[in-house]
Amino acid sequence: MGNIVIHNHSFKVKISTAEIQEAVTELAKTINRDMKDKNPLFLAVLNGSFMFAADLMKQLTIDCEISFVKLASYEGTTSTGKIKQLIGIDEKIKDRTVIVIEDIVDTGNTIENVWDQLKKLEPAEIKVATLLFKSDAFLKTVPIEYAAIIVPNDFLIGYGLDYKGLGRNLNDIYVLDYVEDDKRNIKSKL
Ligand code: IMP
Ligand code: MG
Repeated sequence: MGNIVIHNHSFKVKISTAEIQEAVTELAKTINRDMKDKNPLFLAVLNGSFMFAADLMKQLTIDCEISFVKLASYEGTTSTGKIKQLIGIDEKIKDRTVIVIEDIVDTGNTIENVWDQLKKLEPAEIKVATLLFKSDAFLKTVPIEYAAIIVPNDFLIGYGLDYKGLGRNLNDIYVLDYVEDDKRNIKSKL
């Protein structure tokens, strides 16, 4: 399989579509077992998780619901400046089992933010299901219960993940190989 180029950056296949599907199938089996009779509410965090969420849902055999949320940036008045607010929750969360669906957990900043906002809505429990987990980069204590694939700390695109808006449509997951105009390997610089 050849490299693909996005915004002058050349990427090579890292995780094939077959490997992704196998990992999603395994994760679905675990969730089917753990969540039987719980009627969990899946909350898929857009944009990145749309492909994973669709493939995972197709393999769930339990009663469950899904809804889609997004983190909206706005200028806050706090010292940190930017606050990302979780938007799009229409369902009643109180006393439900909520499973957040993410494309990737890296430092954990994003998922911790989502977790804290959901907690205020008093769910019975919150679980995290992520396709990719950069466990070496993770800095938080939020439990990442369901991680389909553990990955090293590389920049990845495809299967929902983007580089500056492009690459979400790719069926495989790609890793940055080199920058087109100088052919130097710049993985360590990202
Ligand atoms: P965190 O807040 O550091 O855990 O990063 C989570 C968010 O950063 C993800 O939801 C992605 O949007 C983005 N991200 C982290 N790593 C990658 C990557 O390798 N490729 C594309 N996006 C990434
Ligand atoms: Mg994301």
